[in-house]
Amino acid sequence: MSDKSRSAEQSGSSEAQIAVHWKEEKYFKPPQSFIEQANLSDPDVRERFGERNFPDCFREYADLLDWSKPYTEVLDTGKPPFWKWFADGELNACHNCVDRHLGKYRNKAALIFVSEPEDDAPVAMTYQELYVRVNEMAALLRDYCGLKAGDRVTLHLPMTLDLPITMLACARLGVVHSQVFGGFSGQSCGQRIEDSGSRYLITADAYWRSGKLIDHKEKADIAVKTAEEAGQKVDKVLIWQRYPGKNSSPTAMVEGRDVIINDLLKDYAGQRVEPVAMNAEAPLFLMYSSGTTGKPKGCQHRTGGYLAYVAGTSKYIEDIHPEDTYWCMADIGWITGHSYIVYGPLALAATSVIYEGTPTFPDARRPWRIAERLGVNIFHTSPTAVRALRRLDPEGPAQSPQQFKHMTTVGEPIEPEAWRWYYHQIGKDQAVIVDTWWQTETGGFLCSTIPALDDMKPGSAGPALPGIYPVIFDENGAEVARGSGRAGNICIRNPWPGIMQTIWGDDQRFVDTYYKRYCRNTDSTDWRDWPYMAGDGAMQAEDGYYRILGRVDDVINVSGHRLGTKEIESACLTVADVAEAAVVPVVDEIKGRVPDVYVSLGSDAGDLEDIKSRIIKACDDMIGKIARPRQIHIVPDMPKTRSGKIMRRVLAAISNGADTGDVTTLANPDVVEEIQNMVQGENASKSSADMPDDIRNFGNND
Ligand code: PRX
Repeated sequence: MSDKSRSAEQSGSSEAQIAVHWKEEKYFKPPQSFIEQANLSDPDVRERFGERNFPDCFREYADLLDWSKPYTEVLDTGKPPFWKWFADGELNACHNCVDRHLGKYRNKAALIFVSEPEDDAPVAMTYQELYVRVNEMAALLRDYCGLKAGDRVTLHLPMTLDLPITMLACARLGVVHSQVFGGFSGQSCGQRIEDSGSRYLITADAYWRSGKLIDHKEKADIAVKTAEEAGQKVDKVLIWQRYPGKNSSPTAMVEGRDVIINDLLKDYAGQRVEPVAMNAEAPLFLMYSSGTTGKPKGCQHRTGGYLAYVAGTSKYIEDIHPEDTYWCMADIGWITGHSYIVYGPLALAATSVIYEGTPTFPDARRPWRIAERLGVNIFHTSPTAVRALRRLDPEGPAQSPQQFKHMTTVGEPIEPEAWRWYYHQIGKDQAVIVDTWWQTETGGFLCSTIPALDDMKPGSAGPALPGIYPVIFDENGAEVARGSGRAGNICIRNPWPGIMQTIWGDDQRFVDTYYKRYCRNTDSTDWRDWPYMAGDGAMQAEDGYYRILGRVDDVINVSGHRLGTKEIESACLTVADVAEAAVVPVVDEIKGRVPDVYVSLGSDAGDLEDIKSRIIKACDDMIGKIARPRQIHIVPDMPKTRSGKIMRRVLAAISNGADTGDVTTLANPDVVEEIQNMVQGENASKSSADMPDDIRNFGNND
C-alpha cells in the first residue's frame, strides 16, 4: 500500500460532481497482539467471498446459526429487488441468542446493565436468567395480549434490560417488534404506532438521563392520542417500572388502558414458551428511518438473513468472542443497538453491556470507570461521542485504566484528527479501530477494514466487507473509475443477507427510493441489474478504501442520528404564522451537524420571540429534543429559483459562514444579501472550499 499524500480534488472532478477536498492519510497497523487472537486472519477471505462464489459464500454466516429446518437455497432473485435469503429454512432468533447458549454458557453474563446513578452497582444478567425473563415476558405477550407471529408491537423503551428482554420475547413468538428511540417524542412514537398498525405500546415509567429521573410515561399518552387521531387504536399501554414495585412517573395511569408489566409478570412466573420456528423470510423487526420526504420509513428486516449477517459481521469485524466483554455505547433504539448490542453479540454468546445514561455523566471519565470495572475489552461508539469526550477531557483517557483490544466508530464520517485522538488517547495505541459504514436499511456493516488483515486509514471506512461489491455512479449513471478518488453516489451492486426486505406497507416506495435510479432493466431477474443506492456520496481511493462524504439528499446527521429536514420543516410549519420553513445543517464541533431553521412569516404575525419558542416546542414535541434548532432565523423571504424552489444550498452556506457562490440566477438575489447581513453580521465569510463536503453539496439535488 502506498501512503503518499494526494488531493482527490486534483484528479479532475467536474462541476457536476460532488466535490472532494481531502488529503490522503497515513496508515496505522493493527497491533500484533490483536492479530494473534483475531477471529478472522485468513487472507483468503476476500477470495472466498468473491463474486465467483456469490451468493453461496454467505452460507458461512448462516452456518453460525441453529436452524430448526435447514435451508436449501441461499438466494432467490425471482422478484427483484425483493430478494429472499435462505427462504425455505426455519429458525428462531431468540433461540439463537439465548436458548442455544445455555449448555455451555448458562451462568455467564449475557448482558450487564449499568445504571446512570453511579452508586448503583452494575447488574449482570446470565444467559439462564435472560432465558427465564424472556420466557415469562413471552408468556405475557402471548396470553395476556394475545399477540402471535406476524403481529406488530411498538416499543418505546429507554436503555435498561427491559428493552432486550422485550425484543427477545417478541422474537420468541415471531411478533415483529418496532422499537422507537426512547428520546423521540410521543408524537413521533404515535406516528410509528399508526404506520406499523400496533395495538400495543410497551413503554417505561421513567429513566435516568444526565442526573435526572425523566418522566417517560407522559409520552405514552401523546403517542396513543397521535396514533388514534391517525386511525390506529391502541388497546393497551404496558409499562415497565424503572424500580419494580414503585411508580416513578408523576403522569396518571389511564384506567383500563395502562397496565404495569412488573405486576402482570407475577402471573407468568416460571412459565416457559417454546420458541416459534419462523420462516427465514418472516420479518423480525421494523426500524424507522428518516428519508427525504416527511414520513419515516419502516425498514423491515427479515429473520434469517439479518441474523446471519449480524452474527457474521459481529464475529469477523467486531471480533467478538464469547469470553469478550463488549460495550457499544449506542442506544438500542437505533439500528446500531439492534444489530450490535442485542442480536449480533448475543448470537455469539458474548457479554454485552447496556449503559442507561449520558456517557459524560457525571464527568467525562465515566466511560473509563465503567470499562475498567466490567473489564470491557471491545468498545464501540460514534464520532460525536469521541468529539465530546475529547473536548471535555483531552488528556483524561490516556491516564485512565481502560484497556481495549478493539474499538469501533460508526454513524458519520470521523475527522482524521478525532480518529487519531481516539486511537492514541482512548485506545492507547493498543486497540485496533474499525470505521464501519452502513445504514438502518442495510442491517449490518458494508465497508470497514477487517481488523486483523487491513491497515487502518483515519477518516476512511476502508474496503468493502467480504461479499459486498460497491460501485460509485456519477450523476449520469456512468460508473466512476475504481480507485480514481472521484466522488459520486455509492451503491452496492449485489444483494446481501442483511439488506432490508422492504419499507413496511410500501413496496413501491422501497423500489423507488433505493433501486429506481440506477436499475438497468426493470424486467431483469439478474441481481446485477439492480444496484442498491445508499444515498451517500463517497469516493474510492487508489488503495480501494472508501471514504464516505455524507448524505446526498437532505438529511441532517445529528450526533450520528439521521433526521429528515422535511420532518423538521413540517414541524415548523405547524406553528401558526409560519409561512415557509427551510432547515439546513450547520457544522457543530461536538454533534457533527445541527439544524438551523429559516422561516418566513405570514402577514400579521405575532411576537417574534414567541414564534421562535413555539417553533422550538414544535420540534421538541413532534420529533424530539435531538431535532432542536441551533438558531431560528426569521427572514423576509426565502431565496428561490425562478421555478419557486427554496435554495437550501444558499442558506446552508450562510449558516456555516461560507460564501454563497453565484446567486444571480435566483428569482430574488437581493434577499440573499439581506439574509447574509442578518445572519453573518460583520463576519467576513469563508470560502465555501473550507466547508465539509456534505455542507458544500447540501441541497445540490434541490
Ligand atoms: O451517511 C451515512 C452515515 O449515516 C447514515 C446512516 O444512518 P442510519 O441509518 O441512522 O444508521 C446509522 C448507523 C449505521 C449513512 O447513510 N454513516 C454511518 N456510518 C458511517 C457514516 N458515514 C461515514 N462513516 C461511517 N462510518
